[in-house]
This record gives sequence, structure tokens and C-alpha cells, in this order.
Amino acid sequence: MFINYEDEDRTFTLQTKASTYQMYVDPHGYLLHCYYGAKIEEQNLSYLIQQQDRGFAGNPPDAAGDRSLSPDTLPQEYSTFGVGDFRESCLDLHNFHGGIAADLRYVSHRIYKGKQKLQGLPATFGADSEVESLEIDMKDGVSEVVVSLQYSVFPDDDVITRSARIVNTVRKTVELSRALSMCLDYQIPAKRDVITFYGRHMGERNLERTPVRHGKIRVDSSRGASSPHQNPFLILCDHNADEIQGECFAFSLVYSGSFMAQVELDQIDQLRVVMGIEPDRFSWELTPGACFQTPEVICCYHSGGFDELSNQLHRFQRKHLMRGPYASRPCPILVNNWEATYFDFNTDKLLDLAQVAKEVGVEMLVLDDGWFGNRNDDTTSLGDWWVNTEKLPGGLTFLSEKLHEYGLKFGLWFEPEMVSPVSELMQIHPEWCLQIPERPGVTSRAQCVLNMGLSEVQNYLYDKMSEIIRGANLSYVKWDMNRSITDAYSWELPIHRQGEVWHRYILGVYALMDRILTEFPDLLIESCASGGGRYDAGMLYYSPQVWCSDNTDAIDRLKIQYGNSFGFPIKSVGSHVSVSPNHQTGRTVPFETRAVVAMSGSFGYEMDLTKLNQKERQIVREQILRFKDQRDVLQTGTYHRLTNAQTDRWFTAWMSVSQDRSRAIVNIVLLAPIPNAPILAIKLRGLNPDASYRDRSGNQYTGRALMKAGLVVPPLYGDYTAVQVELWQV
Ligand code: GLA
Repeated sequence: MFINYEDEDRTFTLQTKASTYQMYVDPHGYLLHCYYGAKIEEQNLSYLIQQQDRGFAGNPPDAAGDRSLSPDTLPQEYSTFGVGDFRESCLDLHNFHGGIAADLRYVSHRIYKGKQKLQGLPATFGADSEVESLEIDMKDGVSEVVVSLQYSVFPDDDVITRSARIVNTVRKTVELSRALSMCLDYQIPAKRDVITFYGRHMGERNLERTPVRHGKIRVDSSRGASSPHQNPFLILCDHNADEIQGECFAFSLVYSGSFMAQVELDQIDQLRVVMGIEPDRFSWELTPGACFQTPEVICCYHSGGFDELSNQLHRFQRKHLMRGPYASRPCPILVNNWEATYFDFNTDKLLDLAQVAKEVGVEMLVLDDGWFGNRNDDTTSLGDWWVNTEKLPGGLTFLSEKLHEYGLKFGLWFEPEMVSPVSELMQIHPEWCLQIPERPGVTSRAQCVLNMGLSEVQNYLYDKMSEIIRGANLSYVKWDMNRSITDAYSWELPIHRQGEVWHRYILGVYALMDRILTEFPDLLIESCASGGGRYDAGMLYYSPQVWCSDNTDAIDRLKIQYGNSFGFPIKSVGSHVSVSPNHQTGRTVPFETRAVVAMSGSFGYEMDLTKLNQKERQIVREQILRFKDQRDVLQTGTYHRLTNAQTDRWFTAWMSVSQDRSRAIVNIVLLAPIPNAPILAIKLRGLNPDASYRDRSGNQYTGRALMKAGLVVPPLYGDYTAVQVELWQV
């Protein structure tokens, strides 16, 4: 049993391999948080909660004069607004007369093996032998709304997931104006830092570390997508934690819409972490009998630094979040025509590209934007999902048959959630677009957003997409989303329910993805949002590969992929070799370096391979063979950041070690050549200390020597040179 309830002292204890999470029901029915951290066996930890009269704190009616009983200072499992807790609330419940308050007290609980699906939402999963779940029903005695707090424990992965289901059990309608997924209160003060990941289009996932301070540190998105600007993933850690030491907690929201994540330090140094749907404009009507399911949060603990924390998350998400065969199967090595041709292509050009692709060992051709409607630039035709036979005579079927004759799979770009003002779809169904009455509306990249909450829209897209996937025998879809949501208004909802539009939108996206994957379970979806603008645990459920950034400059990618690796599996990183000078930065980077960087991801090419001379084609052939040989180590081995790619000036290094530790690949990229440079020795990680390893030149080292003394790197010379050192156990 990983979840234990002690009836006598009313404690719930959740145990993973290395962590313990405990809460208890106090005599008043409050569910109070006792502890989350390093494993402690068989101990009632409620002694850590010290109830004191804090002076002028609000007391509930049943305190009966006991001024030490106050939700304001007690560690809550799910905070609510209106009854005395003035820290961040998870639940703002508007009672039927309009007052905002909920006072949740324990009613009952259930513990069971396995884990239930979350209705309409992506969520982690596992077999009955791998996960155990707990649901605690908490009730507000006045409104009679019941909140079921959902916990699942994956003991082998040191992961606990949390979410909440809010049920209206009575005959009157109530309204939610916030419904977050999780509240976690650490009541014992400690010096901690919070790490978040900010960015921008073509510069995603920059790590920002800040000491926790009094008040609130909040990251969020109100763009309708998780966004490149902030990511719904954060790490809370010891002030002195680094890659190899220090206690750290990761929190990842399994959600792709607007979100908030916040760390708050209160007046008595208690720390609260909350995460969930962005509450500022959210509302949800709960009619009698209805329930609202919040997204899930993955909580992961490690006592020994970020390296292990990330590797735990990588393993966990590959096994318990990424659904479908590609979670464990290698994704095809692809060539994407975007940077090769942009909108300027036709069947002949694509077949020429395919022929060379096949010759050099590529496994799939992906036809990007521009194959449909009248789309010859980015100003028209989104929504008109029928093939442009002027560009592609014979249509997609002919192209697909040819590609399959060559032995290549076929992948296709869609941007299903959008509509161009200049399109047939917009002419026929202007009401399908998100638009506030009487307002002209905001366009972005000359496109508008479809109201994905409407079943008509979902049905239209499902019909169009499934027909094409079937007809063109697609193995892959690049699912793009290239703008933030404005004008969030739905004609089908009454005035007081317009706050539901954003969440209904993402539920609609999930429903469509689910339907498509149910019909085509072998289809690989690569999610994209102008690059990595929707790279979150929610998308990973449907899309085991995510286009990490529109910036394909290998030197910039070092930073982006470094930041991304803290929270997301290496296998999921969409990464391509593109031309040099690079289209986004104009930078010249050696071919080998571009390949080495792209190999720490899904790997593919995004360039016109027909322009390569014979020597370069041979290089590509060898790169692909090398990647196929290394793929398993790079994608499913442990991943170790050996330097800080975002602050390094001289070089960046990272390595991957196979699961059985018999093979390792060390990658080093020179950033700035130094003449007469110091000796460069890098301490490796993840090896078996007692094993011996040899490199290609026959040098032999013990794992211990490589980890304690380091690997000496040959002098590096030239702009952005890459060195890859492979090690095999002897
Ligand atoms: C976005 C994507 C690119 C490409 C273009 C096509 O920018 O991120 O990879 O697909 O759209 O318009």
C-alpha cells in the first residue's frame, strides 16, 4: 500500500520510493497539510502544525472562542476564499445569492488501486500495480458543494499527482470564479528558490531562478495557450540546490490553456504553491448535479538536485503521460519542407526532395504549410482544408502513393484551430470565429481563432482532417497553433458565462485530438505553436513530439533545449538540422554541430536536401546512421546537463547514458575559441563508477575516474566546433 489512512489519528500518508506526503483531518474537519519531502516512515507528522493565536486572524463559527483556530495560518490542502484564509485561494465559489465563500470540511474518502481518467482532460495513467489513488471528499456545509481532492501516487517515480473535482450536489446553481488544481502549504520556514522558464517566440524556456520572498511570485499566461512567455512548470528548491545536490520539487500542470503558477510566502514564513487554470477571467457555472474537473498537476520530489529530478520526470512522462505507441517507439527521422521551400513548392519539387531524402536514409517527408485552399503566403485559406491541386496535381493521394513507393512515410501540416478572414470557411461560417459582438476583432498573422468549444467546429475539423489522414495515408500530423486568443466570446453562451470560453476552447482542442487519435491510434501528432508556444504536459499526452522552437540555429537551440530539458523528455523535443547561414539568425554553424544538437531530440532535417553536393549527402547519410545507432541512448537514456548552456561563454556540454549504463555519449560545443586554452576536463555523470569504459581511440577509464576527475577534452578549435565522445563499457 502506498496510501495509508490511520483511522485513529485521521492521517493520510502517501509514500513513494523516496518521498512522503502527509495530511490530517483535524477535529473540526479541516484537511491540513503536515509534510511533503524526504521519506519518513510510520510517523504522525501533525505535530509540525503548531496552532497558535496569531492575533486578529479570522476564526470559524465552530472555533467556540478558540482564537488559535484560523484557516489563515493553518496549512491547507485546498484553500478557499471567504472564510478567513487570505492567502491565494484555489476556489472562489459564488453561492446562489452571490456571496463568495466556501468552507470545506472532510466528509469521506476512498482509496483504490490504479487511477481514473479525468473527464475531458489529458492526465497521467498507470496500471493497477503501478499507481494507487485517493479521493477525499470535502464539503461546504452551506452551499453543499463537494470538492473531491484527487491524489495518485506513482511510488517508483517519486510522483504524486493532484487535481480536484467540484460537484454541485444541490438544486441551486452556483458559480466558480476560480478553480485551481492544487494548493501545497509548507509551514516550516526554509531558504528556498523558485525556478521558472520564460521566453518568447524563437527564444523559449529561459531559466530564471529567484529566491522566494515575502509576497507572491507568479507566472501565468492569459493567451489561451500555455505560451512561450511562461511555462506551466516550476521547480521549488533549496537555496543552494544545483544539478547534483539539494532538495527540489517539480510541479508541472497537465494543461495547455491559460494558466497560473504561484509561490507565496506569508507573514509567518509559510510557503504556498498553487497551480491551475488562470483565474483572472475564468468563470464556470455549476448547475445542479454538474461537476467541474480541474487539470492535473504532476508533483515530483528529489533530495539530490536537478539532474535526478529531470531524469525522473523524463522517465515518468514517457511511461505515464505520453499516450500511444510513440512514447516508446522511435519516431521517424523526417525532412520538413518549411525552411526548404516555404510556400513555394509543387509535387515535382517535393518528389525531388523525397528522392534525395530516401537516398540519404530519411524515413518521412513532412509537407508543411501551404498545401490547401489558395494559400501561397500566410494571409489566406486557414480553415479551407482541401488540397490545392494547382500546386499538387493529383492531390495528396498521388503524392502519398509516390512517397510510399519510395519507402517514405507521409506527414502533413494543419493549423486546425484557426481561420483566415480570407477563406471560404469564413464566408460560410463567420459565427464559428471567436468574436465579441460589435467589436472589429484582433487579427494576428492575418488569422482569427475558431471557437473550439462549439461542437459544429469540432465536427467540421474532425471530418476534414480524418478524411485527409485516411485518404493520404498519413503517419504524422504537425498540429500548429500560431496566435494567442483574443475576442474570447461565444454566441452560444449567455452573458454571465463568457468566462467559460477559454477553458471550453482547450477542452474542444483536446476532444478533437482525442477523437482523431482514437480513430488513428498509430498517428504521430507533433504539436507546435509557432515553435514551442504550447510545450506543456497537457500536449505531451496527445503529442509525444513537440516542435521546440522556430529557431533552428544550433547555438540558440543549445539554450532552448537546455531549458526545456528540466521539465520535458528529450525524446519529445522536435529538433531539425537546417541550413547555414541559419534563416533566423544568419549565423554560420558547422554541419556536424547542427547535427549533434538536433540529435538530442527527435532529429530530422529542415533544408533543401537537393541542394547538397555528393559529399554533403554522404555526410547526411552518415549522420542518420549515427543517429539510428545512438537514438536509444539519446532519447531514453539518462540526460545530464554538464554545463549551464544559458550562461556558458566558452563551451556547452551535456551527455546521455544508456539505461543499463553500458554506453554514454558526451557532446561538447565550443562557443568561443580560446587560443592557448586551459586544459578542459569535464566531470561526467550517470556512469557506473565500478565499470570501465573505452572511447573510440581505445583509451580506457573507470566510470569513477570520469565522474570524479573528469574527461579531458582535446583542444577545441574553430567557430562552434562540436565534439562527440562516445564511451562503451568494456
Ligand atoms: C509556424 C511553425 C513553423 C511553420 C509555420 C508555417 O511558424 O512554427 O514551423 O510550420 O508556422 O506557417
